[in-house]
Amino acid sequence: MKKDTVIAPSILSADFARLGEEIKAIDDGGCDWVHFDVMDGSFVPPITIGDNICSAIRSYTDKPIDVHLMVNHPDTQVESFAKAGADIITVHQEACVHLERTLQLIRSYGKKAGVSLNPSTPVSTIKNVLHCTDLVLLMSVNPGYGGQSYIHAVTDKIREARQMLDDAGSDAWLEVDGGVNIKTVEEVAAAGADALVAGSAVYGANDYAKAIKDIRDLANNAS
Ligand code: DX5
Ligand code: ZN
Repeated sequence: MKKDTVIAPSILSADFARLGEEIKAIDDGGCDWVHFDVMDGSFVPPITIGDNICSAIRSYTDKPIDVHLMVNHPDTQVESFAKAGADIITVHQEACVHLERTLQLIRSYGKKAGVSLNPSTPVSTIKNVLHCTDLVLLMSVNPGYGGQSYIHAVTDKIREARQMLDDAGSDAWLEVDGGVNIKTVEEVAAAGADALVAGSAVYGANDYAKAIKDIRDLANNAS
């Protein structure tokens, strides 16, 4: 069942020199989660931030930290992010040889377990791990960079994933990441997403609170 829409600004587009203040600003601006993009220079070309930064910013918000691991061998990062205060830890299906084991590992630390799919990866690849999945994250851009354009071919995947979760009786969140903004959010929400990542659409705005509210209102009206 679709839930109330969660808005999760991605700190990838924040000013990293003032990261604590930037997180406090989206918290004050009414975000639901803080989306924390981890890149390793291997699974995706850039290198961003690790568990030490997660620990450092933990005290700037009480809201859930939604860690998106765009890394190879993500099971090596689960313990350190769990200890750093992450609430949701999402791994890529494409990076996990033993996906079920990795999701169970995340849950063993008392954290929500997420699985992400690149735009080219079929929804059917996660059908057999829904029993240990708390969140499905569909990439609507090829991961690695903020500010890319939404890939409209992913909208059918959102519908397909919504149907699969409902058929399985799963109450996992269905999160969409990449190119979500006031122009695309209605399409994404109408297709069945209930958690929306927005990086440049929030941090590129002058007024973060207004950007969050505008995205939320459009999503709620569309779904
Ligand atoms: C991309 C990241 C996204 C990114 C989204 O690889 O996973 O979370 O920050 O940025 P926008 O919302 O600007 O597409
Ligand atoms: Zn992300």
